[in-house]
Amino acid sequence: MSATSEREKIQRLFKSFQHGKFSARNRFVRAAAWLGCCDGESGALTPSAVSRAAEAAAGGAGTVVSEFAYVSREGRAATRQWGLDGERGAEEVRRLAQAVHAHGSRLIVQICHAGGLLSSAFAEGAGVSPSGVTMPGCDTGSRAMTRDDIERVLGEFAAAALRAKEGGADGVEIHGAHGFLVTQFLSPLFNKRTDEYGGSAENRARFLRELCAGVRAAVGGDFRLWVKLSVNEGMDGGYGPDDGTLAALAALASGADAVEVSSGADYTPAAHRPSVVGVSAGESEAPFAPYARMIRERAPEDAVVILTGGLRSLPVIAGLLDEGAADMFGLCRPFIAEPDLVNRWAEDDARPSACVSCNACLKTAARGPVSCPVMRDREEGEWAPL
Ligand SMILES: Cc1cc2nc3c(=O)[nH]c(=O)nc-3n(C[C@H](O)[C@H](O)[C@H](O)COP(=O)(O)O)c2cc1C
Repeated sequence: MSATSEREKIQRLFKSFQHGKFSARNRFVRAAAWLGCCDGESGALTPSAVSRAAEAAAGGAGTVVSEFAYVSREGRAATRQWGLDGERGAEEVRRLAQAVHAHGSRLIVQICHAGGLLSSAFAEGAGVSPSGVTMPGCDTGSRAMTRDDIERVLGEFAAAALRAKEGGADGVEIHGAHGFLVTQFLSPLFNKRTDEYGGSAENRARFLRELCAGVRAAVGGDFRLWVKLSVNEGMDGGYGPDDGTLAALAALASGADAVEVSSGADYTPAAHRPSVVGVSAGESEAPFAPYARMIRERAPEDAVVILTGGLRSLPVIAGLLDEGAADMFGLCRPFIAEPDLVNRWAEDDARPSACVSCNACLKTAARGPVSCPVMRDREEGEWAPL
């Protein structure tokens, strides 16, 4: 590869990306990041949460995916998580969208239901899950969903998506990954249903299909609908990349325009976890790229594939775009360590992300506002107090 052609490949990442009526100023996505700074009681969005999302936009991310917002109290997945379940939702999205749009970036609001992935630290009583199986590491049980529960939860997702649209977001992303409710339906370990939502891979993907179709019907045609999936469940007895690819294709056939490729959950063996520890630039980058390639090969040509997880350097990301493995590239921890990473890269400082993939940020998010105690001075930036 000549030096010039490598440079051209890298420059493609910084050119605008157009898909239908959606355009982003570059191909970099700040992947969803729970910041641990919403109001712990009400789930209200705080000025601090808005500033931190805006910071990623100011730092050059062409698209910012919000932190995961719960669609109902029953579906809360973490402490100090954002709640998009009530009437104030559209107004909160408006504040977030204005802050992100002010920097020329797009906002996608991520919506989630925890299903049975619950902890007594935040759960308000037992939740619901496909079959009432207690999830790994959980100290709170759940009950099996009835048909009425399924209908209700589908409606809650559609209502949350509408709030995101009313608030001026550019789209929503269904959080179908990392062990939450959608993953639980896809999983043969956690979905033991004997009706049409369980059994075969097609049946296990039914909830996801209905979810995509329901959200699409609610928001109409021009609003972005992304789905984040753990393409490989990463558990013994769980689903593998073939079923994960099938789920991705099912989502795309049911109204989604993009699939964001991820893997596993926080309870899976380390190599399959979404936030892989110890990624090293140029060596162990892009561990989930094979799943993106599988989807790309079989997805309709106009589907958008977003690859997230362990992306750390320009040559690797540019190579993935050049080979056609993915269209957009999600980074999460690198933006926490270095919010202005994309601007730095655009300004010809091509050193890889300074993130050492230690996951200290995840631990700080559990205790309060997310931070990178390793790479980043806590006093840096203009973050508003909580
Ligand atoms: C602090 C933190 C918060 C996260 N919050 C979310 C979230 O709200 N929704 C989600 O889909 N993924 C979440 N993730 C996972 C990331 O979006 C991403 O999939 C993962 O970290 C791999 O990307 P990276 O190697 O660039 O960090 C989070 C990760 C971290 C470290």
